[in-house]
Amino acid sequence: MYYSDEVVEEVRSGSDIVDVIGTYIKLQKKGSNYMGLCPFHGEKTPSFSVSGSRQMYHCFGCGVGGNVFTFLMEYENFSFPEAIQHLADRAGIKLPEQEFTPEAKRKADRRMRLFDINKEAAKFYYVRMKKDPGQTAYGYFKKRGLSDETITKFGLGYSDKGGRELYGYLKSQGFDDDILKESGLFTFDEKRGVYDKFWNRAMFPIMDGNSKVIGFGGRVMGDGEPKYLNSPETPIFDKSRNLYALNYARQSRKSYFLLCEGYMDVISLHQAGFTNAVASLGTAFTGLQANLIARYVKEVYITYDSDGAGQKAALRAIPILRAAGISAKVINMKPYKDPDEFIKALGAEEYEKRIQSARNSFYFEIDVLKSEFDFSDPEQKTKFFRETAKKLLQFTEELERRTYTEAIAKEYQISFDMLNRLVNQYGSAEMPTEEKKDSYTERKKQKQESGLNTSQKLLLTWLTTEPALLGKVKGILTAEDFTDEFYYGAAKEVFEQYEKEGTVTPARILNRYETKEEQAKAAELFQTTLLGDLDEMQKAKAFAETVRKVKQSSIEMRMGRAAETGDLEAMQKAIAEQASLNTTLQKAGL
Ligand code: UTP
Ligand code: MN
Repeated sequence: MYYSDEVVEEVRSGSDIVDVIGTYIKLQKKGSNYMGLCPFHGEKTPSFSVSGSRQMYHCFGCGVGGNVFTFLMEYENFSFPEAIQHLADRAGIKLPEQEFTPEAKRKADRRMRLFDINKEAAKFYYVRMKKDPGQTAYGYFKKRGLSDETITKFGLGYSDKGGRELYGYLKSQGFDDDILKESGLFTFDEKRGVYDKFWNRAMFPIMDGNSKVIGFGGRVMGDGEPKYLNSPETPIFDKSRNLYALNYARQSRKSYFLLCEGYMDVISLHQAGFTNAVASLGTAFTGLQANLIARYVKEVYITYDSDGAGQKAALRAIPILRAAGISAKVINMKPYKDPDEFIKALGAEEYEKRIQSARNSFYFEIDVLKSEFDFSDPEQKTKFFRETAKKLLQFTEELERRTYTEAIAKEYQISFDMLNRLVNQYGSAEMPTEEKKDSYTERKKQKQESGLNTSQKLLLTWLTTEPALLGKVKGILTAEDFTDEFYYGAAKEVFEQYEKEGTVTPARILNRYETKEEQAKAAELFQTTLLGDLDEMQKAKAFAETVRKVKQSSIEMRMGRAAETGDLEAMQKAIAEQASLNTTLQKAGL
């Protein structure tokens, strides 16, 4: 079901955000905004702000934000159409029965149909599992100790042996080949025709944070290769930014997540009551996944396989989590291989004990390091302490470094003074190691980039707060000058609205974002508080500087790209713009 932009906007503008959110949480007027306790993270002092004038909310504590639709999607776990329906009912707006999708909705439309296909496929696989040949899969799940309740909760199923059943079913449901091809569920072969990608497998639907099926994992029953087959990436299935069972874990209200390697581990843990378990999707854990987790919790317990591969994967995940501001601990499941086996053998209570005694990630790293050295050999033992000293340097705060040095010295029976001296020796070494240099230039680059992003963000906030400024930068700035892809999208919308209507409605811009992450990012963008307290003079100066900075780096970037591709025309254009930049800005009074 789709609604035109006009309908969406009618519903949005007819639903006052303060009223709507006010029915869920207690809001108090503070200045021009309303404040309350954030419903999306635990807190004792209010940092959740709702703006009546901008019709948006934003939490300064956990970073969530959006418009009235986002709020309901997040709070009630509604889909977008459900949120519209709910608000339309509330405001007494009659929704059109059926709307055709205009040009602008084509992409969203395709995504919607991909969601539909995956949902239909999941239902089909589930139903087939209960039928005759599918009983083998049902029996397999049962043999692995899953209850009916668990099977239903995770929507497990069975893909038939024939190899064309799903295709036939979806065709009968009216989906055409074009979109079926894009779903990744079929193999289109010139000679042999179309085949189901998954056949004779136990099926695991993969859902996104809103419980929408976006892809599948299919396991062979018994032995065979490959053990798991996964849907390929599609417009709705991005393996690097989704997590298995996140839709459940985010509602678990625990302060940490359990991070597993496999689907079965997650399922076993949920069945045993650990509903905060998630897993990556058949690929290594990514920074995007860490950021996703950071929206809900700040602590992760890694519960990967106990073997060497699992250990290595944990070592890789720890710094990724750390970079996202998440502290990690590692659960020891020995002598069992994974959480699934552990729970089966010893039960939930014992597993809970392992959670309690999980090793802090730094100790875990040192433990692994130690296993690489033979302590009976003095040379190797010395090497171990050298490596440990280098690792201790990752703690940049002196107190923290000292505490860890003390603890490690005690545990590995070396005098504190000795180890500490070693640490300081490496710390003050004149020659920076390669690693250090790399991370330094890397940091510098990131800093420059994020500095530029901050300027683009600030400028957008400014332009939407005082749309009159848009008149001022007309002819100087265009959306293309926002080199960050996300800000480019937002800028395009801002410029278009101003062009057409002479004003800008930020809450409406939010309608165009599909994911909550994007909406939160956009809502943050339109927070006036970014501007701080400046007097008029300072403000004018800061504005001019920001415009110059954004324009300047946009020119530089185009020059760089033109040089790379050898595009002479683009190069000349950029050079000309650069040459006239000062006069252009002066003329505009900037
Ligand atoms: P595991 O083999 O540990 O998975 O691989 P598991 O869930 O414990 O499997 P069971 O218990 O034998 O049924 C971990 C994860 O790696 C991915 C899957 O996502 C799996 O859940 N994987 C594994 C693949 O994508 N392909 C494979 O062939 C194997
Ligand atoms: Mn397993």
